[in-house]
Amino acid sequence: MSSFQHLSSATTHAEDVDRIFDLLLVLSAATSALVFGLILTFAVRYRRGSAAPRGRLPEFVSREFEIGWTAATLFTFVFLFWWASSIDVSSQSAPANALDIHVLAKQWMWKTQHANGAREINELHVPVGRAIRLQMTSQDVIHSFFVPAFRVKQDVLPGRTTELWFKPTRAGVFPLLCAEYCGTDHSLMRGRIIVMPPEAYAQWLSAQPQGDDLAHHGARLFVANGCSGCHAASSNVHAPSLQGLYGRTVALADGRHVVADDAYIRDSILQPKRDIAAGYEPIMPSFAGLLDDGEIQSLTAYIRSLTAGEHQ
Ligand code: CUA
Repeated sequence: MSSFQHLSSATTHAEDVDRIFDLLLVLSAATSALVFGLILTFAVRYRRGSAAPRGRLPEFVSREFEIGWTAATLFTFVFLFWWASSIDVSSQSAPANALDIHVLAKQWMWKTQHANGAREINELHVPVGRAIRLQMTSQDVIHSFFVPAFRVKQDVLPGRTTELWFKPTRAGVFPLLCAEYCGTDHSLMRGRIIVMPPEAYAQWLSAQPQGDDLAHHGARLFVANGCSGCHAASSNVHAPSLQGLYGRTVALADGRHVVADDAYIRDSILQPKRDIAAGYEPIMPSFAGLLDDGEIQSLTAYIRSLTAGEHQ
């Protein structure tokens, strides 16, 4: 089995998925055994020339028995549905203390960036036992972030941020694949997730050239692209303040309410006319074509940091 070592479950989610998979396997095997057992029994019992009674059968199945096994089957299916959906629902939202890592996909590589600015290509180092949330976007076409051992797969789309989270349960090196056909070198768009003990991870992280962290890079872009001209506290232009915006519910001019998450911030930068905040004029120009996805990730990280209280 050692050649499948890299596929055996390596996250809490993978354990959940495997548990229900095993149960389904056992249930299917038991049902198949029952059906084939009955086929065999009847084939032998009623073979040509046997003395088994034929003709009208006595009614030996009682009404209670009929109701009982119908209810039991229904209960089993409802239980399986409930179990599978609860796993699915919990896989949608990461715990609040998750470690955020940014992923940028492009033809044909994975670029990852840690909170302190450390960057990697086709590799991602993470600590074991800690929830990791990936904020992912694509620079060109649709890709899909797939780690078989983690039992997670999420499309990575241009013009949108998608999330994926997992909590590694053991150290090791696990293959990362692109699971959406994305052009000539799709099959070569692979990487490795390196799960390390927390101390080793801390050591690894501090040994990386830090470059610029995303929020600082975003803060510079914020000024360089003129965002600060309107959104700074001292500005004369009537534009929404971004202080404390991230994660808040925003009232829109058309009466809708939206949560200011990564997707909302990205849309506001690229299609500012779409979701106008209540009480403001639609005066913001679109930055579509002027900022690339990496820059939008940086700006989003900066706006987020205004809420986290890092850049007051
Ligand atoms: Cu990227 Cu397939």
